[in-house]
Amino acid sequence: MTGISFYLLTDTHYFEPSLGASGKGYDEYMKGEQMCLAENSAILKATFAKIAEDENTDFVIIPGDLTKNGEKESHKGLLRELYKLRDKGKKIYVITARHDFNDTPRGYKNDGFVPVEGTKRRELSELYKDFGYETAIAFDERTLSYVSQLNRDVRLLAINCDGETDRERGSIDGRLMEWIKEQARAAKKDGCFMFAINHYPVIPPIPVFSLVGDAKLKNWKETAETLPDLGINLIFTGHMHIQSVNEYKNKNGRTLYDICTSALVGSPAVYRRVSISQEGKVSINTLSVPDFEWDLNGLTARQYFDKRFFSMIQHRINKALSGKGVKAIGRRIFNSITLKCLGRLLFIKVPKPLKKQRLADFASEIGISIFAGDMPYTEGTPKGDLIRKTLKRLCPVIRFVERKLSKDNEPLDLTQMLLSSVGKTGNYSDNHTVINLKEEKHGYNHC
Ligand SMILES: [Fe+2]
Ligand SMILES: [Fe+2]
Repeated sequence: MTGISFYLLTDTHYFEPSLGASGKGYDEYMKGEQMCLAENSAILKATFAKIAEDENTDFVIIPGDLTKNGEKESHKGLLRELYKLRDKGKKIYVITARHDFNDTPRGYKNDGFVPVEGTKRRELSELYKDFGYETAIAFDERTLSYVSQLNRDVRLLAINCDGETDRERGSIDGRLMEWIKEQARAAKKDGCFMFAINHYPVIPPIPVFSLVGDAKLKNWKETAETLPDLGINLIFTGHMHIQSVNEYKNKNGRTLYDICTSALVGSPAVYRRVSISQEGKVSINTLSVPDFEWDLNGLTARQYFDKRFFSMIQHRINKALSGKGVKAIGRRIFNSITLKCLGRLLFIKVPKPLKKQRLADFASEIGISIFAGDMPYTEGTPKGDLIRKTLKRLCPVIRFVERKLSKDNEPLDLTQMLLSSVGKTGNYSDNHTVINLKEEKHGYNHC
């Protein structure tokens, strides 16, 4: 098989600056937003400039949420940048997702919001015709999914499962799966290796996300069982703005690897360079968004993105605790107590270096770490052990929540789920890893 390398970036959520990104309305909205909005165009330009410098990598793949919210001007602005990158020799493949069509998007001007022109879903394949659709060797008009021949031996299966209605959104329905099977059979017959992209993660990026409806495909298990049997072992996803690399072994012993990538414009603000060698070795590396033209107030780009994420988490928790009674007490505790106080309340010994840290800051730090991948709070680390002891003390509350959440009497180990969501387990790093597809029983070996 001829090897291939490509850049994978996702959830660009491009927002055209001329639509307005300032004023009181904007500031209020941004309190609860993870992504940078005003800075978005500068971030994209800097990243594309960096990608253009790499003469050894011809392909760029973007699995959805291309614009902030389907603003027509944002699509036009993004397309301008995509054409510039294409003119520098890159072949670009995109799929669209829920944030790319909308009847009522808005800009932020005059201390409030202003309505701006939106985009219909049916317009998207024409808008992005030069970025996958026109050269596709197969196209499913109903879902906007397509297949592209990237080189002599490699095909991209671009799955789109973000339809107009709730029912059509976030699941691969029977008709789409039949179309996928047909494409997988054709790839096999032609001796081509096929990998996939899809906006929604197939495997929940972290264990607790299996409890969150929108965090993965609705029919994720069924899909993860089927794809490897079709010879599709590798899928690149986005949507949850998180770095994760997960594997799922199906009943026939075949594996699906799901590489989910963070949003380009929000902490950790990264993209990936992926290369698949002739021998089926998949090398995945993560790169940070380069310095971009913006006043960062003396911070590095990463500190700037983290600061936004940090304040967003605190704002959202405070909002969830807004109100009187128990919520007000919870809000006061969250914002004022240190880990030392928390230890006293729960009869836990807190290591000295952690005593002065505010609970609110620790919670935000955990949030940022989860989304950056390779979560560090494992057993044996001071913070990891503190989380373990805290969850043990909160056992009665956790048991209560488990009873509420468990469906059809399926046992649920929430403690274990939480622990493996904050402390990385598994065989693969979320940021820099190598996957060997040659060991697969199906898929790569048929090339
Ligand atoms: Fe997104
Ligand atoms: Fe999304």
